[in-house]
Amino acid sequence: MSRVFARRIPGLALGCLLVGAGPVALVLAAPLPAAIAPDDTAPRPSGNDPDAERLARGAAVNQRACARCHAEDGNGGPQPVKAYPKLAGLSEDYLRKQIYDLKAHRRPNPATDGRGERLQEAEVDAISAYFAGQPMAPGDPDDLSPAARRDAEALFRQGAPSRGVPACVTCHGDAAQGLAATQAPRLAGQWRPYLATQLQRFRDGSRATSPIMAAVAKPLEDAEIERMAAYLSGLR
Ligand code: HEC
Ligand code: HEC
Repeated sequence: MSRVFARRIPGLALGCLLVGAGPVALVLAAPLPAAIAPDDTAPRPSGNDPDAERLARGAAVNQRACARCHAEDGNGGPQPVKAYPKLAGLSEDYLRKQIYDLKAHRRPNPATDGRGERLQEAEVDAISAYFAGQPMAPGDPDDLSPAARRDAEALFRQGAPSRGVPACVTCHGDAAQGLAATQAPRLAGQWRPYLATQLQRFRDGSRATSPIMAAVAKPLEDAEIERMAAYLSGLR
């Protein structure tokens, strides 16, 4: 946080440093973020807009290294395979974490293993911001029977306490929109085959990015995973 502030308002940050020699600094430091926050949304002079620069840089990195699979607008996955996730509309924090997970081979996949390995930190930040700012396109239409949809929705909302499966809503949000507080990503509208594969991979341990999701997926049966993926992808 403070790094971001420092970059955006060097004058203020410098001021803090200069007076930051004693107890005065503590008094001054505390209200700073609140005082700065409104400035964050204020228009900046064009041509010198760090956010716009970051987004343009993100778009350029995407073009160069990612769009082939994730598409220019981040809603990619060459059709009809859809094994490549949509990145558009996922949160910046989640995207950043996954890029570092990919770099570190914590979710190896022949198509993508080590992807982004050569990206520098600023490029990871830029591309995460770029995709987070793109709207997610609608997912695969849900072709479930009414009974299958009810089962999937019940598992999503209530979990299966007798088998130790927690309710997905708790972390992913009421509409599967993702919640910053739990770091759980948006699932609504993600490609169906991708969602199913990820639940299988959490279950078999080949996506080792989240002990929580490994535990969640462990008791799930194949048919449940397929239904859940169809249900979530169809959510708007
Ligand atoms: C050759 C195709 C391909 C290219 C190029 C590619 N990716 Fe991917 N990406 C994939 C696949 C496949 C997955 C799913 C991996 C898995 O199953 O764990 C993925 C997953 C991801 C995820 C995780 C999404 C989620 O919902 O968890 C992120 C983030 C990501 N890629 C970012 C990038 C970035 C950034 C680049 C460019 C530097 C890039 N990818 C280039 C194929 C690709
Ligand atoms: C205790 C919190 C929690 C619960 C409960 C939970 N999740 Fe998650 N889920 C997460 C977190 C955190 C992640 C991100 C994991 C990571 O960083 O790789 C995640 C990731 C996922 C992903 C991967 C999405 C992507 O873009 O790659 C899927 C799919 C998923 N969860 C489905 C479910 C389903 C289905 C349920 C209910 C059966 C569920 N989750 C319950 C926290 C939770």
